[in-house]
Amino acid sequence: MTHLKVKFFLYSPHFTSKIVQSYNMGKITIKVKNLKGLKLISEDKRQTLIEIVHLHQIDWMHACGKKGRCTTCKAIILEGEENFEPLTRAEQKMIDRNKLRKNERLSCQAIPKGNVLVNVPKMYQLPHMQYGEESET
Ligand code: FES
Repeated sequence: MTHLKVKFFLYSPHFTSKIVQSYNMGKITIKVKNLKGLKLISEDKRQTLIEIVHLHQIDWMHACGKKGRCTTCKAIILEGEENFEPLTRAEQKMIDRNKLRKNERLSCQAIPKGNVLVNVPKMYQLPHMQYGEESET
């Protein structure tokens, strides 16, 4: 009987959601080098890069509405590539079509789990934003 109780406890949605919640907590820092080193803090490791950017009221190009179909939201990863969740299917498709390089991620797909340093590619910079000179193509 005790065995059943333990099993129920381990598989109960309340218990597993607490584990998932605590795993996804903790501060992470997103730095955008060519946006004057803009520093964004997130405490939710389930958010995509662009969701974090938009929560801080920063404009970032996203022509397909964050659906992983256009690449206009791409970010060049300068540091912390290992701190992202693995590539999504949409990102892998873009790599296969040579629309995404190895050091780039779609900000609408990529979920940072730790600190990262990124750049906005020159090609997708917005005219009303001020970018630094260290921007790359
Ligand atoms: S907004 Fe189009 S791929 Fe991310």
